[in-house]
Amino acid sequence: MKITISRNREKVEYKLPFKSTTLLKALYHIKNYQDSSLTFDSNCRSGVCGACSVRVNGKEVLACSHKIESGDYIEPLKYHKLQRDLKVDKKEAIEKLKVAKSWLNQPKEDATITPDGVKVNEKQSDCILCHSCYSACPVLEVNPNFIGPFALTRAYRYITDPREEDSKSIIDSIQSNGIWDCTLCGECTAVCPQGIDSKMDIMMLRSSSAQFGYSDPNFSSMDFGFGGGF
Ligand code: SF4
Ligand code: SF4
Ligand code: FES
Repeated sequence: MKITISRNREKVEYKLPFKSTTLLKALYHIKNYQDSSLTFDSNCRSGVCGACSVRVNGKEVLACSHKIESGDYIEPLKYHKLQRDLKVDKKEAIEKLKVAKSWLNQPKEDATITPDGVKVNEKQSDCILCHSCYSACPVLEVNPNFIGPFALTRAYRYITDPREEDSKSIIDSIQSNGIWDCTLCGECTAVCPQGIDSKMDIMMLRSSSAQFGYSDPNFSSMDFGFGGGF
């Protein structure tokens, strides 16, 4: 089979002696036997660490669990600084977790967590920070300051944590460049290897925001054309 890899934004084609393999095995084969300078990220090799995410034919995947086909085109994640070939710097996107204050802000005194309490946000807790959803989000194309899906999912994870006393701090921090900037397109949900529905989490955060008196700023500034006629 043949695959093409974006190497510092130049397309380079490689022939591989496989009929079927994962992308990560193919990348290691190229590195070990064809070109040791090929650069990419990996760690666990088993879909757990989130390090190996890239795009194949424009869609985000984990290289260690994705089976490639002849003709595939492999590129780095979008909206991250390119370090080399398929390796990107994830620091800037990770900083958005701080913007969203997505942690336990004020733990309740003597709060305990029950098995039922764990279930409330068990799915959101499965995030492996692979950044696939971030790369798939079209809003970041036009607004690089958008907090993005994984940090908003984590914000939802913490406002639903039964130990959190101060969920309002989290809600306050995601109003600007946050939940109201999302177009609810669902691209983030479609690419998540953990089955996390960030679009739904954002809708739930909108609902929680309404309980704290917030509303969609785009809606309030809309002109419905009733001005002159009534
Ligand atoms: S649903 Fe929202 S956060 Fe998810 S990809 Fe679309 S715009 Fe981005
Ligand atoms: S929400 Fe899913 S796609 Fe986004 S970083 Fe977490 S695991 Fe990856
Ligand atoms: S190498 Fe860890 S998820 Fe792929």
